[in-house]
Amino acid sequence: MQLFLTGVTGFLGGELLVELSKRNDVDKIYCLVRAQNEAKALARIKKVFDLHNDHFDAKKVIPIVGELSDNNLADALINNPHIKDVDTIIHSAANTSFTKIYDEIVEKVNIGGTHQLLRWAKTLKHLDLFTYVGTATICGSMVKDCVVTEDMSPNLTAKHLVKYSYTKMIGELILKDYLPEDKILVVRPSIIMGDSREWAPRSYVILWALATLNHMRLLPMQTQSNIDIIPIDYATRAIIQLVFNKKRKYRVYHISSGATSITTPKKATDAIKHLFPDKPDFKFVSKGLLTSMKKWSKNSTLIDDHSPLFKHKEYLDYWMNYFGDNTKLRVLFYALEPYINFVELGQIFDNSRLLEDTTVGPSIPAHIYLKETAIHIDSINIFEGAIDS
Ligand SMILES: NC(=O)c1ccc[n+]([C@@H]2O[C@H](COP(=O)([O-])OP(=O)(O)OC[C@H]3O[C@@H](n4cnc5c(N)ncnc54)[C@H](OP(=O)(O)O)[C@@H]3O)[C@@H](O)[C@H]2O)c1
Repeated sequence: MQLFLTGVTGFLGGELLVELSKRNDVDKIYCLVRAQNEAKALARIKKVFDLHNDHFDAKKVIPIVGELSDNNLADALINNPHIKDVDTIIHSAANTSFTKIYDEIVEKVNIGGTHQLLRWAKTLKHLDLFTYVGTATICGSMVKDCVVTEDMSPNLTAKHLVKYSYTKMIGELILKDYLPEDKILVVRPSIIMGDSREWAPRSYVILWALATLNHMRLLPMQTQSNIDIIPIDYATRAIIQLVFNKKRKYRVYHISSGATSITTPKKATDAIKHLFPDKPDFKFVSKGLLTSMKKWSKNSTLIDDHSPLFKHKEYLDYWMNYFGDNTKLRVLFYALEPYINFVELGQIFDNSRLLEDTTVGPSIPAHIYLKETAIHIDSINIFEGAIDS
């Protein structure tokens, strides 16, 4: 098998790369990497293997320097003689930012970049499968407190909480403009957070949100909202099994916890609180209070004395003590808001197809595996993460 993989320096792509490189039925893995030159791209790939001392085979894993927002990417790939025999593509790269200021680049990378890849993929004589890593959140924000099935998306009338999920939906929709249906596989992970192998995950993407909530302790969200979370090792195993399962019955699969392994904010926070005995207890308040929190973090005098926020004064005092300055929390509240909005949707992503066509079984619930991995959240720079989120 001659594979082409994008997003290898990221959370999911890195795991996919390492696991795929261990397989004897994979001959080559060409990796699209952003870098100034091939040597620097190779160094970035090597780092992916070094993280957990995995064996790196330079004959098997080969960098292809490229940038998804480059309008000439398709031509560059078409003109590269080394990748003419690629038969399997896994497109995991995306700009995953939720913050509005990145909307333009998110669109360019996730839609424009997918067009570029597909234009090249269409020219491949031996192409067997194009796997698009989408997201289950493309179902949008009108679908609340229910089990979402694969067939409910894509829906062009869906309302999106962030540009990111909209662009992932469009990216999925354009696949069939280039390729026949039998060459397309869409995997839609729910929320991938942490790692169930009790080691530091290769990226703190998403785990950043848990780290921030852990510092805040006063949480403007429902205790019992359903959150569909899976660990990275499970997501990786599931995707690889689907790519290699020639008898899979569907074109689209949720990679999710489903109802059996669902978690809630209460269960997740209960699971990690023993690791941080010096912090105040977690306290859940209505989401409406986030507006007051944002105002307070801009200027504490903007909040009148009767604001319900002052009922939780011990947390405001804790924040002042811990962060030293109310304005520091502003960036956290704003960055966290889309995550809280997603949690409040209470969506469970049906995993029956995944269980039917793989042997991965149900995922470990987040409140079980986070008991161990959450030890790593203390080292996350939450302010840096807020800017990148
Ligand atoms: N994590 C989740 O919870 C989750 C849930 C559902 C779906 N997904 C999907 O899973 C996939 C992987 O997500 P992730 O969590 O692994 O994200 P990630 O850690 O942010 O990694 C993103 C990857 O995409 C690459 N990339 C970004 N912009 C690029 C560009 N302009 N040109 C080339 N490469 C670019 C990044 O390269 P650099 O290192 O150069 O930035 C990185 O390798 C995405 O398609 C995402 O939509 C993720």
